[in-house]
Amino acid sequence: MSPELARAESLIRGIPDYPSPGILFRDITPLLADAEALRTTTAALVEPFDGAFDVVAGVEARGFILAGAAALAAGCGFVPIRKAGKLPRPAASIDYALEYGTATVEMHDDLPTGTRVLLIDDVLATGGTLAAGRSIIERLGYTVAGISVLFEIDGLGGRDVIGDLHTVFHSS
Ligand code: PRP
Repeated sequence: MSPELARAESLIRGIPDYPSPGILFRDITPLLADAEALRTTTAALVEPFDGAFDVVAGVEARGFILAGAAALAAGCGFVPIRKAGKLPRPAASIDYALEYGTATVEMHDDLPTGTRVLLIDDVLATGGTLAAGRSIIERLGYTVAGISVLFEIDGLGGRDVIGDLHTVFHSS
């Protein structure tokens, strides 16, 4: 790992028992607030997929931050995968389980069929969020060009659920 990435990783802090007892919350806000760390990690998220995607998608809400930054860095557009009730014309809806609760995601269908979508999120825990994101992209007729995550929490089964994905940092 480069010194720049190591420094960025050091800016991710673990918050015990948030938002509920037993959960170690990975707070990336100090990393996001640091210009060099944000630039370095954004580049690391998209670099393996350079030239292989047409658009970047992120899952509300934290996924929007890195996916938006990645889209700008890659020179392509950004597409939101939103929690239920936030999009005016959702074309598909998928329910999924979270590490702490349940949620539903929705997406518009304004892209051409076969558009190659790079799916980016901040954290991989159980994999429920990214599995839902992948499913809704495919349900709408697009192609998942890759899945890229800033921080993978090992031991919660996310990698087993998602399979092939790129992660910048691991918890162990
Ligand atoms: C968090 C995080 C990931 C997801 C990871 O989002 O941003 O999207 O959980 O967990 P999983 O792998 O078990 O699905 P959250 O749903 O808490 O929403 P937020 O981004 O609005 O905080």
